[in-house]
Formats: sequence, structure tokens, C-alpha cells
Amino acid sequence: VRTGRGRATGKVILLGEHSVVYGHPAIALPITSISARAEATTTTQASRVDSALFHGLLSSAPDRLRPTVTAVRAALGTDDPALGGVHVRIDSDIPSERGVGSSAAVAAAVVSAVSQARGRTLTPDERFDLVQDAERAAHGSPSGLDARAVCASGPIWFRRGTVEHISVGAPLHLVVADSGVRGRTREAVESVRALKQSSPAVFDHAISALSALTTRARIQISDGDVEGLGTTMDDAHRHLGVLGVGDRALDHLATAARAAGAPGAKLTGGGRGGCILALAHDPDHAAELVARLRTAGAPAAWTTHMEIA
Ligand code: PMV
Repeated sequence: VRTGRGRATGKVILLGEHSVVYGHPAIALPITSISARAEATTTTQASRVDSALFHGLLSSAPDRLRPTVTAVRAALGTDDPALGGVHVRIDSDIPSERGVGSSAAVAAAVVSAVSQARGRTLTPDERFDLVQDAERAAHGSPSGLDARAVCASGPIWFRRGTVEHISVGAPLHLVVADSGVRGRTREAVESVRALKQSSPAVFDHAISALSALTTRARIQISDGDVEGLGTTMDDAHRHLGVLGVGDRALDHLATAARAAGAPGAKLTGGGRGGCILALAHDPDHAAELVARLRTAGAPAAWTTHMEIA
């Protein structure tokens, strides 16, 4: 019997959601304080899975587990019954449907655990490809940003499927707060596409502004310009509102973060529910923002950070 283990963190989009769909860049980073973990042991019997959602044979897993099933099968690399299967245990504290990368992180943890149990060594690109297969099973045509971000150890610059690491000039402290409303990324993406048809000038203006803000943010991160980055985040929140992907709960949390001294705050991910991202001055201020956002109604909030690199 061989055992393999895998772990992947949640992710948050700093800038570039929605404009990334139209070929513009995005910046994303891991949420280091939440993760998905998987352990896989080889077995001579059929593959099975134990998770919060389901305990049983992989072959009879419900539809909701489709990405996990895809990840296990992809990492096994073969369906040859003579090789036996794997018993996969999954444990995650990343909430699903909040735009924080739950499905991609579970897939990444499973892919690592199962391939290790099978004695396969994956390159980072091979791992990404298998996670992206699972993401396709979950979401249809994902941009790949989630799969890249949960596999990364730091902030990434993502454009048309490729990633670059970005330089960080000063430590940045961030808070992600859940609005408690299930994010509706697919609907939000469709509504932006509808706006492109109905009001092309409004769409073009907002998308080019978001693209320019993403480029500006990269420079501000590299310069360690916290105040400037905060203003960039506030501006992005407004343009995302023009695209129609904001909502009252997200506006309320972003306003509460600014009132608590955040240099900037914005919705993050698909919008129409999901989470906001707020910038803090230092780790103590980040902890204070978590408390203030919880008081303002967020059922959960997490800190993450970017280190000088
Ligand atoms: O809601 P999330 O975190 O999955 O982010 C969606 C980001 C979009 O740009 C709106 C869509 C995409 O596929 O990149």
C-alpha cells in the first residue's frame, strides 16, 4: 500500500476579473489561511472517496463530485482494473461557490495525492493540466486563472493562459470577506457579455479601464505603494459596478472596510455575491478588519499576504 498527500490553498483575484475573459491580464494570489487537503492510499479494490459531501465508491459519486471524480481519474492515468484503485480522503476549509477557488484547490490536492500514491511525479504544467481538466468538468470553460492560482506559491500575473510571477516591493496585507451570498460567476459573465451587445461603448470603457488598473496595480505592488494600490482597488470596484456585477452586500462590506481604514476595497471574482477583498496597513490592521467585517455581517473573513519577492 502506498500513500500520497496533497494540499492546495484558496485563491483570490486582486485585479482583472471579467476583463481577463476578454484577453486582458489579471493578478491573483493564494489565500494562505484556507486550504484543501487530500490523502490517497492504493487499494486492490475499486476507487472510493470520503469527503464532507460523499462517502462511497467513486463510480457512484453524485454529480456535485464530478470535478473530484475527474481529478482522481486523470491522476490515476489509467482505468486498468488490474492496477486497482485508490481510497481518497478529502478535507477542506475553503467554502464553495464564493469565488475563492474551492473546486480548483480540491482538484489540485487530489491530483497531487493520487499521483504520488501511484508513484507518478508530475511537473507543475502536468499538474495544472489535470486540475484544469477537473475545472472544465466543474465550470464548462474556465479561464485557467483558478487552476494556476491554487497551484502557485505567490501572486501571479495571468494573461491568456500563461503565468508570470510578479515582484513585490513591500509586504501587502489583505483581507477576504464572504458576503454570505453564493457567488454567481456564470450568470455574471453572461450578463457582461449581454452588456457588450447592448451597450458596447459602456462595456469597452469599463473593460479598458479595468485592464489599465490591473497594469497599474502590478507597478504599485512592485513599488510597495499601498495607498496607490488601495485607490486602484476602489476604482476597480466602481468599474465592476458599471459592468453590473456588483450587489448591495458587496458594496456594504467594501464601504465598511474603507470606514475601518482600509486604503482600498473591491469585490473579487465573478461578483453578484461571493467575496470582497480589502487592503490593510499591517497584520494588526488586517486582524481588526476581519473583526469589523464580521460585525458588518460577513459570515467569514480570512487574511492573506504578499511577501517581498
Ligand atoms: O468567481 P471566480 O473567483 O471563479 O472568478 C471569476 C473570474 C472571471 O473573470 C469573472 C471569470 C473567469 O473565468 O476568469
